[in-house]
Amino acid sequence: MNEKRSSVHGEWSSGLIFILAATGSAVGLGNLWRFPYLVGENGGAAFIILYLVCILLVGLPIMIAEVTIGRKGRRSPINSLRLLARDEGITERWSLVGWLGVVAGFMILSFYSVVGGWSFFYGFEALKGSFTDITSDQASGLFEGLVASPGLVLLWHTLFMIVLFIIVAAGVKKGLQRAVTLLMPLLFLLLVGLVVYGFTTAGFGDAMAFMLQPDFSAIDGGVVLMALGQAFFTLSLGMGAIMVYGAYLPQSESVPVSSGWIVGMDTLTALLAGLAIFPIVFTVGLEPGEGPGLVFVTLPIVFGEIPLGYLLGIVFFVLLSVAAVTSGMSLLEPAVAYLTEASDGSRVKAAAIVAGLIWLLGIAAGLSLNAWSGFHLLPDMGIFDALEYVSSNIMLPLGGLFVAFFVGWKLRTVSVAKELDTHNHHRLFLLWLYVTRFVAPAAVLFIFLQATGLLGLLSGGE
Ligand code: TRP
Repeated sequence: MNEKRSSVHGEWSSGLIFILAATGSAVGLGNLWRFPYLVGENGGAAFIILYLVCILLVGLPIMIAEVTIGRKGRRSPINSLRLLARDEGITERWSLVGWLGVVAGFMILSFYSVVGGWSFFYGFEALKGSFTDITSDQASGLFEGLVASPGLVLLWHTLFMIVLFIIVAAGVKKGLQRAVTLLMPLLFLLLVGLVVYGFTTAGFGDAMAFMLQPDFSAIDGGVVLMALGQAFFTLSLGMGAIMVYGAYLPQSESVPVSSGWIVGMDTLTALLAGLAIFPIVFTVGLEPGEGPGLVFVTLPIVFGEIPLGYLLGIVFFVLLSVAAVTSGMSLLEPAVAYLTEASDGSRVKAAAIVAGLIWLLGIAAGLSLNAWSGFHLLPDMGIFDALEYVSSNIMLPLGGLFVAFFVGWKLRTVSVAKELDTHNHHRLFLLWLYVTRFVAPAAVLFIFLQATGLLGLLSGGE
């Protein structure tokens, strides 16, 4: 066997920093923007239950598997997979899974950056005092006005990508580590504050009913696929982001324990976001199925009327922007790490190329919401929606399936056990291995087949 490798990109200074950075990657627009609106559109409590099952049965085991690959390979996902495949004497085509991730990352970041730009815009509006005494119609109008304006959308998308470029090009470590340490706890506190506020509103009861009483009639194969896609999306799984962060994890730290923390914090944040947002939705009489505008329409209304709302509004949207930035960076990092390894080692050049390409694709995503809204890439879906749907619901689960298969079946069990340092927890290790080998892949396959209607065909159904 080979010697222990070391990362050419540097390492996190401790396991705690890894947890913070990976939590920074996981906690983002997926929790605060995407989760609430998906819950709203897909039947509330029933969707939440499916999502939690996916997190536990598929998300957690695959997170452990991804970090394991990263820390054993110590390179970008593409090269880590290639090295590990070489170690095992199997085909180096496994690196294609890394490439799939790079493509998925491009697609995700292109629309993610557009929404990150909206967060910036809202931070700016909060500063201008635009939310003071805003009515629900005005709040809807503000959001619709933003989305309908190609100029505004592209301006803020561009700013978002510039910020990402600067951070990733600078070689994340110092600035990022410090930012994450300071800002993630603050975001958390603010969210708890909003939940407490939600508790005092008239819509709280309706919100609890919506989030706790499952209506399973709202569930079909498509909704299950959405819940699975959201589990991957919110945990940053399936495209190499967590893998590349794992490549910078010091050898002394426990992979399963860190993974547990990341998954726990991320899930808690999503649930808190729901508890913060739905009471307001019901109080002001908005539709929970409002769609992607949900957070951007609801929260300004609260900030417009509560004491200290002006200040809290600024803080919230600044933090939302920060959460989006710390996630966006991790979408950029796998491709940038690869290009740095593959070229003369200039991270700045690599970051400029990758960020530039994604910026271009993001322009298409942004324009598809206004100037090009007549153009459909998939039935009923413009470029933005199609990028979101295909990357989250198809490419991420597919990437995760390959990761589970690779770690569960292709890596030698002894070497995985050694990496996970499991001698005192042998039974837990076996449980994880079993889930990674059988349960997670089967769940992903089953959900795929069911959502595409293939299951009916295979079973000879009509
Ligand atoms: N998890 C982040 C969020 O919830 C988004 C994200 C960052 C992501 N890196 C990723 C999603 C990698 C999929 C893959 O906002």
